[in-house]
Amino acid sequence: MSNTPVSFHDLHLTVDDLAADVLTGFSRSQKSIPPKYFYDAEGSRLFDAITELPEYYPTRTETAMLREFADDIAHKAGTGHLLVEPGSGSCAKARILFEGLQPCAYVPMDISRDHLQVAAQQVAAEYPWLEVHAACTDFTRLMTLPPDSPEGRRLAFFPGSSIGNFDPEAAVGFLRMIAEMVGPGGQLLIGVDLKKDKAILEAAYDDAQGITAAFNLNLLKRINRELGADFDLTQWRHEALYNEDKGRIEMHLVSRATQQVHLLEQTFYFSEGETIHTENSYKYSVEEFRELAARAGFTADTVWVDADRLFSIHLLQTGAHE
Ligand code: TRP
Repeated sequence: MSNTPVSFHDLHLTVDDLAADVLTGFSRSQKSIPPKYFYDAEGSRLFDAITELPEYYPTRTETAMLREFADDIAHKAGTGHLLVEPGSGSCAKARILFEGLQPCAYVPMDISRDHLQVAAQQVAAEYPWLEVHAACTDFTRLMTLPPDSPEGRRLAFFPGSSIGNFDPEAAVGFLRMIAEMVGPGGQLLIGVDLKKDKAILEAAYDDAQGITAAFNLNLLKRINRELGADFDLTQWRHEALYNEDKGRIEMHLVSRATQQVHLLEQTFYFSEGETIHTENSYKYSVEEFRELAARAGFTADTVWVDADRLFSIHLLQTGAHE
């Protein structure tokens, strides 16, 4: 293994961010916790386990598609880009593209610091020809490239249907941010989960082994640990329901009883059946997603869909140079 140095830029979230966001979320009538806090060390581990579950088709499908269409993607997108991946996680999907795309540099960005550091080091060791600049950041707020990243046409890569975890308005805002980051003539390769049968969707977010439940409940563990709260985990359960009107899976933590929870010198009351909303996962038809992307200034280039019509990968571009 080579010891290729990886430049590392650290802008991670603090306990104060968590405290402020939890207090805000709990002050609403529908209580909520922002999903970005899922990804502490344990959460990142559980999330990786989710992506391998039999019920969780998106990762398997998208990965197979990236393999199958790698050449076509490189053909359509071109080569030699600065490849930027917000929310890079284990960098497993980008690896599939490196051979074909031959990027001039790779910028993995993730909120989970240790996870990012390990993944970036592994990529650098495995692909000695590839320059790697890791950025630990909360991509919902900030998306500036590391100052030492090289020039080059920019291609953003946003797989995993993570765009579905934003409300549509916020998704447009986020896509605008990406458009700005890649600049004129820049591109975006983005994985988007398609609308489908409710039973398939609900199973994907509530697996038989209870890994997704553990992932959701881990938020409360984190709040206990980092904010000194006293959530009793036996008094909460995971729920994932497809809201057909809104075209989204909703994940909630459901209170099993009337109870009180103390945190940050405040007491919060939960009635039996009351929920804390923790995440949405919107599903889009190809057309719906194209409309959303158009509002952010992207035009459609190519879309790939698997044979079972479970998942889509869009290649989009911003307006060319004037
Ligand atoms: N963006 C993916 C999705 O919505 C992955 C994901 C994010 C996820 N949060 C999750 C999967 C919570 C399961 C549970 O599917």
